[in-house]
Amino acid sequence: MVNKITVVGAGNVGATTAQRIAEKELARSVVMVDIADGIPQGKGLDQWESAPIELFDSRVTGSTGYETSAGSDVVVITAGIARKPGMSRDDLLNTNAGIVKSCAEQVKATSPNAIVIVVSNPLDVMCYVAKEVTGFPRERVIGMAGILDTARFRSFIAEKLDVSVRDIQAMVLGGHGDTMVPLISYTSISGIPITQFLTAEELAPLVDRARNGGAEIVKYLKTGSAYYAPSSGAVQIVEAIVNDQKRILPCSAWLEGEYGMKGLYLGVPCKLGRKGLEKVVEIDLSADEKAALAKSADAVREPMSVVKL
Ligand code: LAC
Repeated sequence: MVNKITVVGAGNVGATTAQRIAEKELARSVVMVDIADGIPQGKGLDQWESAPIELFDSRVTGSTGYETSAGSDVVVITAGIARKPGMSRDDLLNTNAGIVKSCAEQVKATSPNAIVIVVSNPLDVMCYVAKEVTGFPRERVIGMAGILDTARFRSFIAEKLDVSVRDIQAMVLGGHGDTMVPLISYTSISGIPITQFLTAEELAPLVDRARNGGAEIVKYLKTGSAYYAPSSGAVQIVEAIVNDQKRILPCSAWLEGEYGMKGLYLGVPCKLGRKGLEKVVEIDLSADEKAALAKSADAVREPMSVVKL
């Protein structure tokens, strides 16, 4: 447990993230910050009032300013508009860049030692904005996407094979978009390669569904995007950091030569502990996987080159 965790944005992703953090007692104090006066205060109070029933001692509060969030150990940035049906994550680019920029400035001013976890879309570019604006080292600016994409893929495999989600390991790399790269060669059930359970033809639709997993939810909800699984993903990163778990999870990290790339955020296996990103883990990739990762990197570089900082 750390002293304080702030969640910026009290919308569906932010509020669910705060709730999960409080219920897991990852911090003594959980602060939700949002510009919509009344929403963070109301949701924070409502969550705190669930504490005697859910039995957690994390004190949840909400505010429109960053004063109460000052000195946070971890800050999760979820602020931004969500997709509507037919929109790609890149359609959110400049609106969300402006929002993430102003959040990052406040975080830098009030919580200069925080580890920042970015959830806002388009994810990999928003991580870049947060890193540039805060000036924090890459160890302290990490993006959540691969855990979500991987969780979707794992849930579809579990459903298809009628096996426990617990036993399914998978790794989805690349940008959080249509070019994400699910690694079949690293997908297994209790260590048994997935290819012993499913043929390439049977796997293809599951890969496709994971790739379009975000859009599938947007299509149902119509007025917003997914938040239960995205908040679970964000909290898994928070937990790995707060409890110094040294977990290896797919996250968006600033590359400094790993996988032959540098100067961009991309989903890669990351070792997470109390210092934040402790290592980018490099794994062997096939020629096809390398090519897919390079293509995914191009799809991140393009919006990155036009984003207004
Ligand atoms: C998703 C959005 C939140 O993948 O990026 O659901």
